Amino acid sequence: KRQKKSIAGQLRDRLPEDILGILTLAGKLADEDGFEVFAVGGFVRDILLRQPNFDIDLVAEGDGIAFAYKLAGVLGGRVKAHHKFKTAVIILPNGQRIDVATARLEYYEYPAALPVVELSSIKMDLYRRDFTINALAVHLNPGRFGLLEDFFGAQRDIKDKIIRVLHSLSFVEDPTRILRAIRFEQRFEFRIGGQTERLIRNAVQMTFFQKLSGTRIFHELRLIFDERNALRCLRRMDSFALLTHIHPNLTLDDKLIKYLEELESVRNWYRLLYEEPAAQSWIVYLLGLCGHLPPEELVQIAGNLGFTERQRHDFLALRERTGQALGKLINWSQSGEPLSGLYFILHELPVEGVLLLMAKSTRDQVKKAISVYLTRLRHIKLEIGGADLRIIGLEPGPAYGRILREVLAARIDGKAECRGDQLALAESLAGHIPDIKTKKPQNTATPPS
Ligand code: CTP
Repeated sequence: KRQKKSIAGQLRDRLPEDILGILTLAGKLADEDGFEVFAVGGFVRDILLRQPNFDIDLVAEGDGIAFAYKLAGVLGGRVKAHHKFKTAVIILPNGQRIDVATARLEYYEYPAALPVVELSSIKMDLYRRDFTINALAVHLNPGRFGLLEDFFGAQRDIKDKIIRVLHSLSFVEDPTRILRAIRFEQRFEFRIGGQTERLIRNAVQMTFFQKLSGTRIFHELRLIFDERNALRCLRRMDSFALLTHIHPNLTLDDKLIKYLEELESVRNWYRLLYEEPAAQSWIVYLLGLCGHLPPEELVQIAGNLGFTERQRHDFLALRERTGQALGKLINWSQSGEPLSGLYFILHELPVEGVLLLMAKSTRDQVKKAISVYLTRLRHIKLEIGGADLRIIGLEPGPAYGRILREVLAARIDGKAECRGDQLALAESLAGHIPDIKTKKPQNTATPPS
């Protein structure tokens, strides 16, 4: 038998100390109780691919839940156990999550006629998984720490850049894997293998994909929209005729692809700028993909994807509001008005809407102005506020809003940059509003009468 490869060196080199510590501890605790524990799945795949991934997935060849409690006890974490599936999640005080599953032979039944084969329970656990590249396990017990279990040729497929299922019923068992295959293919710039591609087409033809609930499709779609290469995933979905299962009128043509390319580069630009994805990609992409369809079809799409009431509302409202804002934006760009005009158009919209408009703008100048809005204008705050208007003697009322808005416009257009200028401007504006300056300026607290 060939010697197992050890990736202990890679684990030590590529993992942060705390993660490495958790793996080592897990191996030690399992060893004390006399069973094997492994790190598995995307975590191992990403070590080999040199991609950061700190979502630890463990499989114990013993009682996974009891093991999770023991590990959590030492690490000071909480445990959420699912007894039905013999799985548990450990949540550490710093938010780190550790998934623990139980690998047990008795889960699997074989027809009596089959020759008895000795299978370790980790092998059976891995066999239930989606693709070879996700079916690697690495030993954590001391003495074997870092040894790789590769029963299905995962290392070869990683080397050859291939997404391959483990058996022919994989997509029938779980049609969401069709979208997962596409997502991993595009993320790693791999290729779905020939046989696997045939199995996908078969599953689609036999309407397995169509039988998925809208909610499950939407869940996978959201994961796709969070990818850097989301558009490539959509094009691949289109090549498997999957978009039309979301809605018959959803197809990609050259014009739409061009717009979506622009949208993706705008989204990725924004993401790079603000590391935390403050914008919800699903709403950006879905509106990009079907914002041109009539409202009743958008309602159907919301239904087909099992949107919650809230998602449906956000989706339809944003399409409406960006439509209106686009008209104002065109007027603004033709009128030669200053930047403050743009500010008040965009400020009404959530950032997702601003990104859609930025992608829609064909004129470089407008695009540039929107990027100035996103990076700078929208963060501008006045150095004065209502309290200052009071101090200079203005009676509180609706005029406050108008005056502050004018001062903000001036500030945005570079005409009232400091507090002094803003106060002066507010005062002069107030002078033009009849009946507003009724009180004496109060520079100090009101003296007792
Ligand atoms: N898995 C599966 N079939 C699915 C979903 C998950 O077989 N439909 C298995 C895969 O082995 C996967 C593991 O469960 O590696 C964990 O799932 P998930 O966290 O979704 O996958 P990752 O591979 O970690 O993907 P990502 O990098 O996108 O988090």
